Amino acid sequence: MAAEVNQTKTWWKEAVVYQIYPRSFKDSNGDGIGDLNGITEKMDYLKELGIDVIWLSPVYESPNDDNGYDISNYQGIMKEFGTMDDYDRMLAAAHERGIKIVMDLVVNHTSDEHPWFVESRSSKENPYRDYYIWREGKDGKAPNNWESCFSGSTWEYDETTQMYYLHLFSKKQPDLNWDNPVVREEVFRMMDWWCQKGIDGFRMDVISMISKVPGLPDGTPKENGLADPSPYVCHGPHEHEYLQEMNRKVLSKYDLLTVGECAGVTIEEAKKYANLDNSELNMVFQFEHTSLDCKNGKWSDDKIDLVELKEVMSKWQTELMGKAWNSLYWCNHDQPRMLSRMGDDSPEYREISAKMLATCLHMMQGTPYVYQGEELGMTNMPFQSLEELRDIESINAYHDLVGRNVADHETMMRYIRCKGRDNARTPMQWDDSEQAGFTTGTPWIEVNPNYTEINAKEQVEREDSVFHYYQKLIRLRHQNEIIVYGDYELLLADHPALYVYTRTLGEEKLLVICNFSKEAQEMELPEAWKDQEAEVLIANYEDVQISNTMKLRSYEAMVLRNC
Ligand code: GLC
Ligand code: CA
Repeated sequence: MAAEVNQTKTWWKEAVVYQIYPRSFKDSNGDGIGDLNGITEKMDYLKELGIDVIWLSPVYESPNDDNGYDISNYQGIMKEFGTMDDYDRMLAAAHERGIKIVMDLVVNHTSDEHPWFVESRSSKENPYRDYYIWREGKDGKAPNNWESCFSGSTWEYDETTQMYYLHLFSKKQPDLNWDNPVVREEVFRMMDWWCQKGIDGFRMDVISMISKVPGLPDGTPKENGLADPSPYVCHGPHEHEYLQEMNRKVLSKYDLLTVGECAGVTIEEAKKYANLDNSELNMVFQFEHTSLDCKNGKWSDDKIDLVELKEVMSKWQTELMGKAWNSLYWCNHDQPRMLSRMGDDSPEYREISAKMLATCLHMMQGTPYVYQGEELGMTNMPFQSLEELRDIESINAYHDLVGRNVADHETMMRYIRCKGRDNARTPMQWDDSEQAGFTTGTPWIEVNPNYTEINAKEQVEREDSVFHYYQKLIRLRHQNEIIVYGDYELLLADHPALYVYTRTLGEEKLLVICNFSKEAQEMELPEAWKDQEAEVLIANYEDVQISNTMKLRSYEAMVLRNC
């Protein structure tokens, strides 16, 4: 009996997305850098995992100040990654297997090497001048006190015209001026070009920052004299107007998956971005749950508290239900590995806790995103020295904080080992041969030494691996409407170690139980589940015993279905 679904059904609600960070995925030509032909080579691996969509981190021409998030040509492919022919072959290989491709759209800023910016900086009269945000200095200093996401001022002085340009990220990432209608037209035309090519969607990089508060006012300074610009740059006055225009002119003409990376997004804002009326985007990435361990500033090695995590996740689950659509993720290229952060990456509990975390996320409502290597239980990297790092954010933060004596070398390396973005960017571990089978050359960033134990080849061959567990979770989502559309309800909100929730669709119910601790836990089944027959849909231990008082082992997870 099919129950009423309280949502319009669409493919992107039912899909599972896999994020590829191309630089670290698979190198096909031995230069140590992952590339498009490498992705094509591994398409069958992704098919076997069962994902529906690939989100491709940027592959456009770029000087790589921020690994491709600084684009110098939106309609060309980064040389290290291959050619447009390679791209077309990859797209065809994906489509042949029923896999869709979502492109990363980085249009809050370009590279300073983009021809638009080269023109823009050349003179005040240049037709491209207003493509970017130029201001006069104030008393010989920057126009305001905003701090860049990558440390230091958001303003760079430019000798040629003796003015400053705005860059919320690195100085090689000047912000585009979205208030200029010509800029919007250029961006929309470029998006349309990709859609015509047959791509299946966009992940929109820091899209919540495209509209800035006029006057660009100073913020409240921190101890270093600089201020967080978020209140003036996130969800600014024309944000939704510009996205609606984008939707009318481009998105609505195609059948796409669109997801906006929305730093600082609240529930109220998310309901606008991802409204079910389809006037803007399909869904957003929110950052509340990945910020829970960064409360005392950006860099810390605090742990995520489970009660807080449950509160945040549940708020998003229940408040968007029937009003907007959630995205679900633990990991991406900007986050440390969730397994090291929330699970247990010791050899003894690595696999069991990776499966537990996966169960917890993949049984929720929303579109799940799997980040490359997550499906193998890849872990953080034991970085020891600055020389091993490649990420501009970590390197700049190190120099800034160590330079100002806010942190010493050891403290900073400890933070970076916990939170640094390079943790997620070490090469994909394909097998136990040299360099984890990622490259025959020298990788651009070192391979995690644990590749001899953690690698795809071993896991694809072994039935009880993390890989096969993800495969099963994905299959279950495809086969059970309740996992996609069912209502969510949190139980035991205050329990410090257990994350327990139900999903409900008509008469059908799921009970999801996850023990986030190494310690055994006892749990009374909810009344409705006592003395009832239940089917174990999936579990991370083999011999699950259902009883009114459940005894849960270290990191045990299971999903029960009422019969
Ligand atoms: C987004 C990307 C990140 C990048 C930044 C600037 O947050 O995910 O990797 O550094 O935007 O483009
Ligand atoms: Ca290569």
